Amino acid sequence: MTLTDPQTLKRQVAQAALAFVEPGQVLGVGTGSTVDCFIDALAASGLDVAACVSSSERSTQRLRAAGLRVVEAGEVERLAVYIDGADEIDPRGHMIKGGGAALTREKIVADLAERFVCIADASKCVPVLGRFPLPVEVIPMAVPQLQRRFARLGAEARLREGCRTDNGQLILDVHGLSISDPLALEVELNQWPGVVCVGIFARHRAALALIAGAQGVQRFDY
Ligand code: 5RP
Repeated sequence: MTLTDPQTLKRQVAQAALAFVEPGQVLGVGTGSTVDCFIDALAASGLDVAACVSSSERSTQRLRAAGLRVVEAGEVERLAVYIDGADEIDPRGHMIKGGGAALTREKIVADLAERFVCIADASKCVPVLGRFPLPVEVIPMAVPQLQRRFARLGAEARLREGCRTDNGQLILDVHGLSISDPLALEVELNQWPGVVCVGIFARHRAALALIAGAQGVQRFDY
């Protein structure tokens, strides 16, 4: 195992994120393999958080297995911090998320939070979003219609095989986009009938990112 082994980087950035957790607070918790490391680090730290609001069944199970209390999003009015990973992050803190199909709940929990702290390894940093296929959660009956709409943008929306979200919906992974204006595209796609949630996090971009790489963990404020 090297210092830049992906799992080592995830553990490093997860450990660094503990600096943003305060005892007694209710914490927003994202989804994914980096967040799994964060949940493990949080449990091992002994930091006495009051509870967590989880963004997926996957994270809820892991939090509970670690002995952490989980409350529903509807039980809180605001969160100081939401900690989550990303599939891509650009130099302004805009992200693509949803590789783990949890984008809708992630955006709901992020919306409750004052600060989105993104935790990722350096491979997720891109100059322009879009190399990672954009996940879009959709209502099943709209799939062919939405695929035609994306085709008119010059992109290909592929149905994610065997995937049902925690909300019982489907995921289209959209290939071939170059997202130079993430906010404009997020707003546009949100208008398309049948779209539940777009995996562009521009309105809910990161307030700061902790990025693990060969130089250690670096902090970027946006
Ligand atoms: C899940 C997500 C994750 O944050 C994203 O896929 C990154 O995951 P990982 O930490 O496993 O690379 O958006 O829906």
